[in-house]
Amino acid sequence: MIDNSLQQYFEYFQNYEQLVAQAAAYIQAVIKKNNCEQPVFAITLGSGLGELAHQISDTITIPYSEIPNFPTTTVPGHEGTLILGKLAGVPIIGLKGRKHFYEVAHEPFNNGILKSVFAVHVMAELGIANYFVTNAAGGLNTNYTVGDLMVLKSHINLLPNVLLGPSRSFSRVGDNSQVWQFQPMNGAYNKQYQELLLKAGEEFAANIHSGTYLSVTGPTYETEGECLAFRDGFGADAVGMSTTAEVIVAKNRNMKVVGFSCITNTITKEGVNATNHEEVQEILNSAEVKNRLSKIVVHFFTELAKLR
Ligand code: HPA
Repeated sequence: MIDNSLQQYFEYFQNYEQLVAQAAAYIQAVIKKNNCEQPVFAITLGSGLGELAHQISDTITIPYSEIPNFPTTTVPGHEGTLILGKLAGVPIIGLKGRKHFYEVAHEPFNNGILKSVFAVHVMAELGIANYFVTNAAGGLNTNYTVGDLMVLKSHINLLPNVLLGPSRSFSRVGDNSQVWQFQPMNGAYNKQYQELLLKAGEEFAANIHSGTYLSVTGPTYETEGECLAFRDGFGADAVGMSTTAEVIVAKNRNMKVVGFSCITNTITKEGVNATNHEEVQEILNSAEVKNRLSKIVVHFFTELAKLR
């Protein structure tokens, strides 16, 4: 018997699929009521990418707090709004603000990591076949400088694996099969989209790279030892506190994934990461960075629209 104080967490764990379905039904009703086109891309506007929301046309916004069961964000600088609209004519859902694992890691029954990917499950439930992920990250690769972009080529997941635990009854987008354990993760980041994004980046960025993102739980930044291990041992190019759990879910649900990191701070050759939250926010708030990131994403969708 689960004691009273644990009961609510247990129910969340037990009813996760239904909670996702309720949130998706709410959004689907808004889509229908407003005659919106079926979204084809979900895009997480991570830290600093909020500006991109201004590029979305025909918008309908829904605060996360209005959507049943949708996790709200608690980190300053990370808003919680879902935006229905179009980017360069492509119907999308923008997710302005994400739930980080470090905010909810204390919740029992694996609920923390499940909450951090709730939005991605909802997007899959809506039948959205593509996921665009963005984040802020520290540059481990010594060729990277602040404000650079790194297109995600691969990742190293050091968050708890979100597929741990019993199999769930979610089905994959586009085919109704179910996979849970032993999900292959090769090719997690779609090759064609990576190339499209790199091309878009080359139009507008002084420095755009292709690299491997490593996730940590945070909420601490890394020690010298960790930075050296991640760079020289693991071969990671950038480190951050999000994304990989979302990408595991997206891949598990058969979504095509593309994404980039905005490098907000660099890590020295000796492994010194001297950043702090204020510095990270400052880079992301810079008008130049916001403007450039917006242009790149719009260009990506403009090119994508030509292929559709
Ligand atoms: N480490 C982890 N997360 C981050 C960093 C970093 O250096 N910069 C931005 N997010």
